[in-house]
Amino acid sequence: MQLASAATFESFQMTHTKIFMFVNNKGGVGKTTTSLNEAAALAEKGKTVLFFDFDESMNSTFHIKLQNSNEKSFTSSSLIANPNINIIDCIVWGTKLDGVALVPSDGGIKKALEERVRGDANALIEVAMNLKKALHSLDGDVDYIIIDASPSMDMLVKIALTVATHLVFVVDGSSYAEQGIVNMLNSDEMKFVREHNPAQTILGVLLNKIDTRKTIARINLERTEIGGLKKLPLYIPERNEIDVNTHQQEFAVGKGKEGLLADSYRNLADILITQSVTNKEAA
Ligand SMILES: Nc1ncnc2c1ncn2[C@@H]1O[C@H](COP(=O)(O)OP(=O)(O)O)[C@@H](O)[C@H]1O
Ligand SMILES: [Mg+2]
Repeated sequence: MQLASAATFESFQMTHTKIFMFVNNKGGVGKTTTSLNEAAALAEKGKTVLFFDFDESMNSTFHIKLQNSNEKSFTSSSLIANPNINIIDCIVWGTKLDGVALVPSDGGIKKALEERVRGDANALIEVAMNLKKALHSLDGDVDYIIIDASPSMDMLVKIALTVATHLVFVVDGSSYAEQGIVNMLNSDEMKFVREHNPAQTILGVLLNKIDTRKTIARINLERTEIGGLKKLPLYIPERNEIDVNTHQQEFAVGKGKEGLLADSYRNLADILITQSVTNKEAA
């Protein structure tokens, strides 16, 4: 049973599309903010991105969705609740960002999953497999998929992690955020992910909300490893304008956006692009 399911997961490996997820089981470190601005930065570089809101809090859907759009779609909840729904019917193509499409969340995703799984481990594997298959059907149609999930290490996050091809851990420099990485790496959920998604790559740790005037920020910047993982060679500065962006549903990256914050997101996009190139693509 175990071998059969692992073999089937393998058969849905993407050849072109990369699925990124910014993770930490501590909330508030900036996963959603980073995900949104990376979608903007990748789109600015001419890449096509599908933003997948897998969080019942709907933060990113709220941020990225056009207010006056009459484009209707199913949601990430419908995709989880009903295996017969086509992922194409869950995509909103027009968002606030050119080149970024959205699978919106409607707040019911956790309940939809609980109802499908009902404590049955095989049912959970089946949901993950269906999602993997659905995303696989988009292989080559979009360059990058970014999944935004909730911080809690629950079944939903476990499923998202099982389909993601690349992870970036986000920390805000606090010891609790570092502990969040360690907890996550040692969790039963990650054991499940490694078993069913052995090809997944951890790109490293991103330092977010860095204020270089603070000693703790400077100490963290000098480290090469955080939580036992490689630190990425850049950081995202702490900026109040991020909160204003969130409030006004804007982005730190885009036409006319200059400065360290926008450039950091752009540099991170370059790192994501180059570090996720497969040997086959490089050849
Ligand atoms: N680089 C940054 N500088 C300042 N504030 C930030 C930065 N990144 C995120 N934030 C703020 O931190 C809070 C949590 O961010 P969020 O992306 O929602 O975290 P998560 O998704 O990890 O829970 C938000 O108020 C957001 O505006
Ligand atoms: Mg979030």
